[in-house]
Amino acid sequence: MSDNLTLPAQQGSTGASTEALLKVEGLTKHFPIYGGFPIKRKVGAVQAVDNVDLTVGVGESVGLVGESGCGKSTTGRLITRLLEPTGGRIEYAGQDITHAKRKQLAPVRSEIQMIFQDPYSSLNPRQTVGTIIKSPMEVNGINPAGGREKRVRELLELVGLNPEHYNRFPHEFSGGQRQRIGVARALALNPKLIVADEPVSALDVSIQAQVVNLLQKVQDELGIAFLFIAHDLAVVRHFSQRVAVMYLGKVVEVGDRDSIYNRPRHPYTHALLSAVPEVAMDDETENRERIRLAGDVPSPISPPSGCRFRTRCWKAQDKCATEEPPLLQIGGNTEGHLTACHFPEDPSTEARSEDVVMDPALKAMENDGNVSKS
Ligand SMILES: Nc1ncnc2c1ncn2[C@@H]1O[C@H](COP(=O)(O)OP(=O)(O)OP(=O)(O)O)[C@@H](O)[C@H]1O
Ligand code: SF4
Ligand SMILES: [Mg+2]
Repeated sequence: MSDNLTLPAQQGSTGASTEALLKVEGLTKHFPIYGGFPIKRKVGAVQAVDNVDLTVGVGESVGLVGESGCGKSTTGRLITRLLEPTGGRIEYAGQDITHAKRKQLAPVRSEIQMIFQDPYSSLNPRQTVGTIIKSPMEVNGINPAGGREKRVRELLELVGLNPEHYNRFPHEFSGGQRQRIGVARALALNPKLIVADEPVSALDVSIQAQVVNLLQKVQDELGIAFLFIAHDLAVVRHFSQRVAVMYLGKVVEVGDRDSIYNRPRHPYTHALLSAVPEVAMDDETENRERIRLAGDVPSPISPPSGCRFRTRCWKAQDKCATEEPPLLQIGGNTEGHLTACHFPEDPSTEARSEDVVMDPALKAMENDGNVSKS
């Protein structure tokens, strides 16, 4: 590989494109666990991300959703190269950046930016807003026309903040305003891809929509692609053209937003959707049945054999314990809608007729009358 990666010419702000900007194949991150005394040895690994395939097109927004601990942030940190992958390949703008070294990564680093969940801890409290937003330009030696301060003031205006607040400190801003500062910092280097890790989860519900709208504006006007990480399908619904659903380190379903929300095939996607009743996009799905996502996610140190979802799946059969279901375009799925399940749900939006409890142990307790169904 050459010392510096060459990048394609800047794309116009034309919205989503089918051209892949980011292509991730077989991405894997296993965090080693060490034990033993007096000599420490590797005794296991947290299989945080396991064989994940994902693409994000130029100017496209892809949502990555799933329960806490399923590996969303680790995926984001691998893509932004804050973590070194255990396996797999990351291709950005046609270049393999999987193990690119610091110098080789330099031109890419400015194009891939991250927005973090917590707008309080992600901003240095001792630095002014101007210094915070300016610092990526300084680190990367970027000198915009008119100077860095002018550029910072433009960015403050773009994200809906007063440019006169250049010299203020983060504590003088509300949570929503701080996240706007985080967005301005991410925009400072004209990125082509932003990995937004739960960018609104820490904000009041009333403020969440404002920040999502800001990100939408950024995507529309600047043509920036997004990997939008969230545990809440309702947030992703308005922002992402495609959605990938993760469970215990694996992508279990991915597809166009309409396909995923209206014709989900994987039982886990059904469960996630049912937890957000108003998320249904068609009127006919208004009566979607609630599925209670009972039980804990199994440990990623020793995930279940076969299908990782089988310990909580009401459709599980013997095959699910022995064969891992591949992520495929199964019969009935629209183009690009992939599902990893041996016994998928029908591609209909009909709600099931009987109550579904996801955890077989809880179901047994309910049958014994030990647990209330409310
Ligand atoms: N540095 C680390 N060392 C060991 N295990 C880790 C490390 N970082 C994350 N993990 C583990 O990897 C798994 C995935 O974590 P990750 O933070 O990616 O999940 P997440 O989907 O982002 O969860 P949340 O919704 O809570 O943010 C978890 O079991 C977590 O404990
Ligand atoms: S493969 Fe089996 S256990 Fe996994 S989601 Fe499908 S039916 Fe459930
Ligand atoms: Mg996370």
